[in-house]
Amino acid sequence: MRSSCVLLTALVALAAYYIYIPLPSSMSDPWKLMLLDATFRSAQQVSNLIHCLGLSHHLLALNFIIVSFGKKSAWSSAQVKVTDTDFDGVEVRVFEGSPKPEEPLKRGVVYIHGGGWALASAKIRYYDELCAAMAEELNAVVVSVEYRLVPKVYFPTQIHDVVRATKYFLQPEVLHEYSVDPDRIGISGDSAGGNLAAAVSQQFIQDANLKNKLKVQALIYPVLQALDFNTPSYQQNVNTPVLPRSVMVKYWVDYLRGNYDFVQAMIVNNHTSLDVEEAVALRARLNWTSLLPASITKNYKPVVQTTGNTRIVREIPQLLDARAAPLLAEQEVLRHLPKTYILTCEHDVLRDDGIMYAKRLESAGVEVTLDHFEDGFHGCVIFTSWPTNFSVGIRTRNSYIKWLDQNL
Ligand SMILES: *[C@@H]1O[C@H](CO)[C@@H](O)[C@H](O)[C@H]1NC(C)=O
Ligand SMILES: *[C@@H]1O[C@H](CO)[C@@H](O)[C@H](O)[C@H]1NC(C)=O
Ligand SMILES: *[C@@H]1O[C@H](CO)[C@@H](O)[C@H](O)[C@H]1NC(C)=O
Repeated sequence: MRSSCVLLTALVALAAYYIYIPLPSSMSDPWKLMLLDATFRSAQQVSNLIHCLGLSHHLLALNFIIVSFGKKSAWSSAQVKVTDTDFDGVEVRVFEGSPKPEEPLKRGVVYIHGGGWALASAKIRYYDELCAAMAEELNAVVVSVEYRLVPKVYFPTQIHDVVRATKYFLQPEVLHEYSVDPDRIGISGDSAGGNLAAAVSQQFIQDANLKNKLKVQALIYPVLQALDFNTPSYQQNVNTPVLPRSVMVKYWVDYLRGNYDFVQAMIVNNHTSLDVEEAVALRARLNWTSLLPASITKNYKPVVQTTGNTRIVREIPQLLDARAAPLLAEQEVLRHLPKTYILTCEHDVLRDDGIMYAKRLESAGVEVTLDHFEDGFHGCVIFTSWPTNFSVGIRTRNSYIKWLDQNL
């Protein structure tokens, strides 16, 4: 009896140690976030074990866990019709708001889910609920793209999949079939999906046939650059759930098919040290000492290495490619972009990617709304229903949908 008490106490202590992480009190529902983070971390550890045993790639294993827990088959209600189909060979899940006599033509949104270019699905509950809410509240047709993921495909195949599905949707006969107004179509995504949405928007304005086809882009805590992993938000959120800095750097390395041996060097910005000539001209485009306000930079200092590792960008030149890192695009490209919404969260390594992009777009003359949440954390927009319901999840989602309602 006594020994089982000791054992139980030890187990509880161990569980508490595993789950507890110090979080700022300004974060939304910190205890719930700790539990969510511990669950995600254990899934990651199980996947790493499966990888070490040689049974499967860790990202395949992790995605298998995520998708098997959360998959939802196509469904329909009086308000929304949901269909799984394919657009020019790319799988999509389409959400159609019910027809309204006063508004015969609907708005259209191409939605790209997040997950580090490697995880999640348009068919998991979280994204299914978000897209259904958009279709219903906006009376829109939402095309949620089931693009292929790492490690089946790498950069730039994810972009190609989204471009194919979007071009298919934009054809007059397809828009007609779905009763979509060709002048009211937007592109949107969260996290790595926000990265893909930003990349596709830049690609479309450079193509005479596609220019002006998208009315808005709405980016939710997008990933936008891989040159500086020491922006104030990266420094401030090194270990913040659900996206610690090292995890984000690994997603980049995986997407660009690089080598994990470089991760530690990239974390200290050795890949963009002053002796890396290829990066010199680009560094000014994400110079956060001039792009971010003092309220954000606080006392953080830039991390610039004099000598680093020149091999990294030689082996992974895509790090400097604006299609992978839309923040690196030239001003000349940015100035043609459509009206833009960018949502950022204080407790997120990617906060400053979003704020810097908003600033660059604004300087280029694009109309931008920067919607910042002081108690937000990375991923919160999809966490709106029990048991993973967060107050900031509901507020961010409402704010995002409201912007689309007023601007699309
Ligand atoms: C960064 O580069 C410097 C110079 O090559 C090297 O001394 C240092 O160990 C590197 N740091 C990491 C973490 O790789
Ligand atoms: C970044 O901006 C600061 C302030 O405007 C400037 O002093 C610095 O030279 C810039 N650095 C780069 C690499 O452009
Ligand atoms: C989450 O949902 C439960 C059950 O509906 C509710 O009691 C709770 O207050 C919600 N929490 C938040 C943070 O919204």
